Amino acid sequence: MRTVDILLFVVFPYVSVALAVLVGLYRYFFDRFSFSSFSSQFLENRALFFGSAPWHYALLIILAAHIAGMFTGFWSRFIAPPSRLYPLEAFGAALGLSSVVTLGVLFVRRLLNPRIRKVTTLPDWLLVIVLMLQLAVGVYVALFYRWGSLWYMYTAVPWMISLAKFQPAIQYVTSLPWIIKLHYLGGFLLLAIFPFTRLVHVVVFPITYLWRPYQVVIWNIRRRFAPAR
Ligand code: HEM
Repeated sequence: MRTVDILLFVVFPYVSVALAVLVGLYRYFFDRFSFSSFSSQFLENRALFFGSAPWHYALLIILAAHIAGMFTGFWSRFIAPPSRLYPLEAFGAALGLSSVVTLGVLFVRRLLNPRIRKVTTLPDWLLVIVLMLQLAVGVYVALFYRWGSLWYMYTAVPWMISLAKFQPAIQYVTSLPWIIKLHYLGGFLLLAIFPFTRLVHVVVFPITYLWRPYQVVIWNIRRRFAPAR
């Protein structure tokens, strides 16, 4: 076993998870106000509309498929018929491509709009760039190393299970092509930088909005400043 493989596929994933949990919890309890996506909607809305919603929908479906693949019993039965596997692979690649384009829209919006540039921190830039690379590499893998939904179950899944059991078995991943390894490590890199950026909002998705009473907003300024009815 090469030292570099141990560093990349054993040490790095554990450090990423530890950072995500410890720094994430620290920030949640000691800097609660910052636990948000810091909406920039009031600074610019048009490009956000075309970028944000489609990007989130595409990514949620892609990540849901990544997670579903971990339930190998269910997943292998699900993708067994080619009538499901083929459309699924094509749909995944199309969603991946659309996620690259829509994140590109969001990136350019942040880059070109001086007001949004001002509210973007260095870690946020790093996050967007790593996300872009992760998506682009994912799409490359999906297009050029076909049937990833299948071999994922025999490479990534046993490797991650072995890490979770604290019995690392890196032989499942070390002999893969380097671009696939890059994508696997990219997932952990995102985990490592997540607690330092606005990505923390993914764990405080405002689910309580579904059942909390609606909010009544009453203008509390003099009548002549209030908006016309
Ligand atoms: C350790 C974590 C991860 C592993 C093991 C992994 C593995 C894979 C594999 C095997 C594929 C090829 C699927 C196929 O050919 O159908 C893929 C595709 C893809 N991945 Fe990941 N991935 C991980 C994390 C992520 C993350 C965090 C993102 C996004 C932020 C992401 C975005 C994508 C995209 C956009 C595609 C192409 C579309 C698709 O086929 O679903 N991946 N990933």
